Amino acid sequence: MMRHPTQAIAGQKPGTSGLRKKTRVFMVPGYLENFVQATFDAIGGAEGKTFVLGGDGRYFGLEAAQVILKMAAANGAARVIVGQGAWLSTPAASHLIRLRRADGGLILSASHNPGGPDEDFGVKYNTANGGPAAEAVTEAIFAATLEITEYRKAETADIDLASLGEKRIGAMVVEVVDPVAAYADLMETLFDFKALRSLFHAGFSARIDSMNAITGPYAVEIFEHRLGAAPGSVVHARPLPDFGGMHPDPNPTWAHELMAAMMAPDAPDFGAASDGDGDRNMILGRGTYVSPSDSLAVIAAQMQLAPGYAGGLKGVARSMPTSAAVDRVAEALGIACYETPTGWKFFGNLLDAGRVTLCGEESFGTGSDHVREKDGLWAVLMWLSILAATGKSVAEVLAEHWARFGRTYYSRHDYEAMPIATAEAMLADLRAGLGALAGRSVAGLRISSADEFAYTDPVDGAVSEGQGLRLLFEGGARAVLRLSGTGTEGATLRLYLERYAPGPDGLADDPQAALAPIAQAVEALVGICRRSGRKGPDVVT
Ligand code: G1P
Ligand code: ZN
Repeated sequence: MMRHPTQAIAGQKPGTSGLRKKTRVFMVPGYLENFVQATFDAIGGAEGKTFVLGGDGRYFGLEAAQVILKMAAANGAARVIVGQGAWLSTPAASHLIRLRRADGGLILSASHNPGGPDEDFGVKYNTANGGPAAEAVTEAIFAATLEITEYRKAETADIDLASLGEKRIGAMVVEVVDPVAAYADLMETLFDFKALRSLFHAGFSARIDSMNAITGPYAVEIFEHRLGAAPGSVVHARPLPDFGGMHPDPNPTWAHELMAAMMAPDAPDFGAASDGDGDRNMILGRGTYVSPSDSLAVIAAQMQLAPGYAGGLKGVARSMPTSAAVDRVAEALGIACYETPTGWKFFGNLLDAGRVTLCGEESFGTGSDHVREKDGLWAVLMWLSILAATGKSVAEVLAEHWARFGRTYYSRHDYEAMPIATAEAMLADLRAGLGALAGRSVAGLRISSADEFAYTDPVDGAVSEGQGLRLLFEGGARAVLRLSGTGTEGATLRLYLERYAPGPDGLADDPQAALAPIAQAVEALVGICRRSGRKGPDVVT
């Protein structure tokens, strides 16, 4: 064991989902080591503990895993369960932590951000419940990064992570496991695989785009091997260190190949994409895009169709910027609906306390109490279950949902890599004027209220402030503005737009057209384009 003197490194503050930086920043000797040591220090040491370790296969993941294994050993950990090749999807890592009753886990990913030496890398710590560490823990980690004076790392050769089985670094066991098997088995307990096999057997066609990221092996095993989808149904199935140049963010902008295939006349019945680490999903039907907020609402309404949820839902939760479509389903079902800040970590307590079964975010995240992360392939299996049980197409399921509950038009506009000062000044000015907005009209829309979202966790009473500026317009339309906490370049300003149409008319409009008046009101008030010189958002979802 070797003690290495080190010095605090500024800026190692975990964001919405762990520490994300440019890969080259993580590759600076000592950078990763400092953060990992701070993590061990913040959780009361690694002595005698069991951890799960893996990531999305991106560039530097294997090297980082070797560093973490040597550090865990030098810090006295008893066992590290690591996915073969240092591969684990984020939901699979969450499951393994729970299944093996590990003390926690380290996930090597920058999620939906591109990978490669000039792109992004990230490290996230998950606690024993399988979920992302709560704010109290991430704050303790950050504090430890500022106090660090040394890190511990065993001086030993790299461990063979390519072959399964138990290896050792000194007294610590390194257990290399199949990254897919336990996760695929879990899915079999939640969904009716026999019914899904019949669906594919009857000629149902699907295109599952893994975007050269971690879900490839999972999707091939589950859809092609266990469910009998035609070979080749999973595309871009090989995880590559740079995702083959793809930007593994499952939205219409970045998953454009899949979008084109699904909008073509010969489109398959169903399409889906995953992100880098497998926690996000995009759902498509032939000629049909399902917005994540709608997907959450549809799942809430039909979840009992899957055997794992036949008993019904305890409650649902959505992040504040997610549309209120799911709220209307919860109301109809007579169950609680919680509104949390952005980030999956805020669902952890609600899930642990048994208050909610289903959670979702507008950012292509959906999941249930089966793990403590959002889970992209779970959402795909849930949609397939709905299609199998109802015999309907994606378009029909959506149309019937809107006819029953009304439609919540929804869109997110992202202004990426803005100068930090510009973005912060816009929000600061809006914040300063919030109190005087109620009753004012902008661009023809009357503001009924305006506030900044703060959240008190109903389980442990923890308070999180500054979680997004909200403008409510007369008639129930809404705009939310907040800065991203996952970017690695400048500031990303997110504008979330929403408007409810109760039906029966006006359910088939173009979302951007339906939301344009709200976007114009925000521009008049905040001046995102005026003040930044931008022509419009970089990404619209
Ligand atoms: C983004 C999403 C958020 C999600 C997070 C991690 O965070 O908006 O919903 O939980 O990525 O996947 P943001 O960059 O907005 O802070
Ligand atoms: Zn992700």
